[in-house]
Amino acid sequence: MPNNPIRTNFLVIGSGIAGLNFALNAAEKGKVTIVTKKKSIDSGTNFAQGGIATVISKTDNFKKHITDTLTAGGGKNNKKAVEFMVKKAPEAIKRLAEKGVRFANKSGKLLLTREGGHSEKRIVYVGDYTGKEIEKVLSEKVKTHPNIEIMEDTFALDLIISKKSCYGCLSIYKNKTVPILADQTILTSGGSGQIYKCTTNPKIATGDGVAMAIRAGAKIKDMEFIQFHPTAFARKLSPMFLISETVRGEGGKLVNKKGINFLKNDLASRDIVAKGIYLEMKKGPVFLDISHKKTSYLKKRFPKIFETLKKYGYDMAKDKIPVTPAAHYQCGGIETDIKGQTNIKNLFAFGEVACTGVHGANRLASNSLLEALVFSDQIVKNLKKISEKEFKKVKFQKIKIVDKNSNKTKESKKTKKEIQEIMWEYAGIARNCNKIKKTALPKMEEINQKLKKIKSINPEIAESQNMALTSLQILKAARKRKKPLGCHFAN
Ligand code: SIN
Repeated sequence: MPNNPIRTNFLVIGSGIAGLNFALNAAEKGKVTIVTKKKSIDSGTNFAQGGIATVISKTDNFKKHITDTLTAGGGKNNKKAVEFMVKKAPEAIKRLAEKGVRFANKSGKLLLTREGGHSEKRIVYVGDYTGKEIEKVLSEKVKTHPNIEIMEDTFALDLIISKKSCYGCLSIYKNKTVPILADQTILTSGGSGQIYKCTTNPKIATGDGVAMAIRAGAKIKDMEFIQFHPTAFARKLSPMFLISETVRGEGGKLVNKKGINFLKNDLASRDIVAKGIYLEMKKGPVFLDISHKKTSYLKKRFPKIFETLKKYGYDMAKDKIPVTPAAHYQCGGIETDIKGQTNIKNLFAFGEVACTGVHGANRLASNSLLEALVFSDQIVKNLKKISEKEFKKVKFQKIKIVDKNSNKTKESKKTKKEIQEIMWEYAGIARNCNKIKKTALPKMEEINQKLKKIKSINPEIAESQNMALTSLQILKAARKRKKPLGCHFAN
């Protein structure tokens, strides 16, 4: 790959459901380049187990889905965006099925399951690997599309900005900086769960999109609202293995060490269940119990969870599974309107990296793949091209790349761990505004300043810089919220 600029019409940064779906739509209008820092399959989407929320059942209606979303979100949601998403859901699911996603069904009729905070059964699913199936289907289409190029192992370092307009990004590929110039740049780079010691998020979720957007001057919103999934498998794994909420949707119960089902409602919204587990764990371990179901059923309904737990010595049909809350989802992000437009011209954002306001202070389960899907369908009609003359005026920096075995790289790995410890300790489910102000913020400011001074970099170092900047944003927002809301409670 040359060191000269690459020119494309639509630059998509990230290869999860939002990026792939957008790419397939946009490819009808021009050349699309997808940049992904590992392989195209490495995304948050690929880890999504549960499913996608949509109103299909006869007893359900849009109003109920909207109300459930607003209730979970603590009323902090953008109601217009919620209404828009909920109403667009059935047709978005239909299109996904037409593309080849085989949702669970009986004689062609979609089967529905339930998750926390939903007043109706309204989750369509593919076993316990919904995200993986969607990723596979969309990836296959993207890979064979003549207008789409995927650049794997390419790290998007920074957006190219001039006079409040975006012209693409500066990337690192094979130890070289490569500018990629685009008429429209679309951030779909996912979340930031890796800034926490315990997370269900893949290794790639290091807050790169939000950090790049901050440096570019984009508006960021609601970053304090990091959601904790109640039931990660309580083993020291990185990422932690998720045990889908749909296990409770199909009858699983949460029990304490005495076998007592200690919550009023195991399928309350995620904040309530996570808080209940967190408090119960102060007395002893907490378990998820679905052992009343038969092996044959569990193997068919939850093949991935069943096999993974078996590998660690647990039989779902016999054993209680130890669980713990873990960082799971970034409800806030880069502020966008309903079409994904940020406050920077020609810069758009979709999916977890964006904040359309649909999730408010706490996301309703299975609204995330839905949000990514519905909103990444929207901007295609409005794509505008930039004149070549305008591109000629754009300047981009040349950056020195250091070896991945350098001391600075080793140090940045240690710094990542430090960030994860601080965030877990001070910006978890239980929050204390004073401790954030007096301890966590000064520590993170210091780390951020130190990392900012490093000028010769590589993807590992850049990730640590992004993690520090994103963490700082979360801590600043959390400090301002005197009374924790949604995902968190005061301690
Ligand atoms: C789950 O399967 O429990 C996760 C689904 C989600 O995060 O919406």
